[in-house]
Amino acid sequence: MAFSSTGSLCFGIIIILSLLESLCACQRCSSRKPAQDITNQDGKHDHKTWLFSVNGRKRPYSFLDDYGNLIGFDVDLVAKVCQIAKKRCKMVLTEFTECSITSRDINYPGRGLMAEWFDGCPGYVKSIDREGAFDFTDPYLNTYASFTVAPGNPKAFDPDSSDYSKFSLTHLTGAVTNSKCLARLDKTVGKIIIAADLPEAKALLLNRSADVLFSPRSKIPDLEVLPQRVHCDAGGTAVMLKKGSNLAQWWNPAFQSLVDSGDYQKLCEESRIKYNASIRCMVSPPHSNPDTSEHHDKKVWLFSASGRRKPFNYLDDKGRLVGFDVDFVQEVCRVAGRRCANVLQEFTECTFTHRNTNFPGRGLMDGWVDACTGYGNTLDRESAFDFTDAYLRSTSYYSVAPGNPSGFKPTDTDFSKFTFTHLTGAYTNAKCLSRQGKKFGKIIIAANLPEAKALILNKTADVLFSPRSRIPGLESLPQEVHCERTGVAIMVKRGSPLPDWWNPAFRTYVESGQFSQLCRNSSTKYSYPIDCLPDDATLRYS
Ligand SMILES: *[C@@H]1O[C@H](CO)[C@@H](O)[C@H](O)[C@H]1NC(C)=O
Ligand SMILES: *[C@@H]1O[C@H](CO)[C@@H](O)[C@H](O)[C@H]1NC(C)=O
Ligand SMILES: *[C@@H]1O[C@H](CO)[C@@H](O)[C@H](O)[C@H]1NC(C)=O
Ligand SMILES: *[C@@H]1O[C@H](CO)[C@@H](O)[C@H](O)[C@H]1NC(C)=O
Repeated sequence: MAFSSTGSLCFGIIIILSLLESLCACQRCSSRKPAQDITNQDGKHDHKTWLFSVNGRKRPYSFLDDYGNLIGFDVDLVAKVCQIAKKRCKMVLTEFTECSITSRDINYPGRGLMAEWFDGCPGYVKSIDREGAFDFTDPYLNTYASFTVAPGNPKAFDPDSSDYSKFSLTHLTGAVTNSKCLARLDKTVGKIIIAADLPEAKALLLNRSADVLFSPRSKIPDLEVLPQRVHCDAGGTAVMLKKGSNLAQWWNPAFQSLVDSGDYQKLCEESRIKYNASIRCMVSPPHSNPDTSEHHDKKVWLFSASGRRKPFNYLDDKGRLVGFDVDFVQEVCRVAGRRCANVLQEFTECTFTHRNTNFPGRGLMDGWVDACTGYGNTLDRESAFDFTDAYLRSTSYYSVAPGNPSGFKPTDTDFSKFTFTHLTGAYTNAKCLSRQGKKFGKIIIAANLPEAKALILNKTADVLFSPRSRIPGLESLPQEVHCERTGVAIMVKRGSPLPDWWNPAFRTYVESGQFSQLCRNSSTKYSYPIDCLPDDATLRYS
């Protein structure tokens, strides 16, 4: 076998290049300083490098200077706190959407934070609605919210008025200056446009698509920031963390000693001069007591909640993540002696549909969360997920446009004349229709409930098949359908160890009578019938 001459020439060059490269690499390592020997409080060597995400656009807190150096108050603060805590830390540039995103008015954690690309996002405002999605360190900066208008305030927007409904507001995706904050401030709002970034928000104001930008900024070039200040925060600006993170365990005491030594105020003074800017330092930063509970260093099991299934998991008017599933998870975890947290996450991270098959979502497969609460255990899902024992009854319904204009009859066996729609990931899918002995035609997969409703109302689809008995604006037919095997359960990644501890704890909870008590209490608390499985059923299925 002969190599072509050009081929062997290239091959030779590649070998020489790689030799040169390894030679250079060797020189680099020999000239590099040995890594600092970091020993933590327990005297154990801690080799983890903690990463802090910034996007390099937040002057004077974290920004790239003209030459590309990442500098700013947050950068200096992280270095100081890590030094005190004897932790190895680095900043990492990522887009801010890796920390947090807004989807249909809910703040969800970003991919980077959930997938643990990094450990913390400095400079994020702690707020009630973010507490359903994130943990936080103790706050280290003050914050406020303000209203920005086009120069001259052409629409005469008055921040002190309680009725904003005539104005169209905009805020940045992921911001705490959102509709929940306006609700906490008792404002009536009209249209809200979510802007992808500040340039887009500015363009919206300058071309009059929006009247007011609600943001935490005191100055925005070319626009007018009105003098009124309001608060969307729950105590200030902090490092935002993935739920269950143990970063605050070492960060908070180290930050506290920075404050106690006077070095925090010194850093603030130095930074004001160094960055020629005002820094919103606190006079006396509050501090929480370290968690000294027996379980404080155990794993926190994360249970995903979309925040869109009232009364099971939803954001109340103040923005708090509440609901029966949220309470139930805490109860069973208490019985099991496990640390658990409910975390807001888009439902498509748990499951989605592609070509009439339900697949597990990225968040569940990639360990962003340990479990997805409130999913029916259907036959087809059982090839994609594992489930705990069921705890709620599951019932599905056909919903149509008011008056059932297509004349859909749930009792027929041939549905092929009708166009169906269901939400992506739903168990009310093609496989369930087949198990019911139905023939079906076209099925459109909707990205979310508003889209499914729009499809019905604009006659693109005739029937929405879903586990919901009431959908405002649609008519749900009375026929009940059962797609599930035993009921609604906690859905986990295949092979997850969660059911091994959950099921015995749940059984204990049922046997003690507390489960039926929780169900009764919750029906009152949430003014909605919570359809729990009866005790004998839950015990039989175990
Ligand atoms: C105004 O600006 C936004 C953002 O750039 C753009 O999406 C929108 O189409 C513009 N509207 C008008 C009426 O120019
Ligand atoms: C500091 O900022 C002020 C106002 O923002 C500006 O007028 C001044 O020139 C700046 N000083 C330096 C040294 O950049
Ligand atoms: C009906 O609504 C859907 C979802 O909003 C949209 O994608 C589709 O274009 C609409 N179709 C018609 C005919 O208006
Ligand atoms: C249910 O409510 C009763 C009375 O308010 C209370 O004593 C009990 O602890 C509650 N049980 C559960 C499981 O929530």
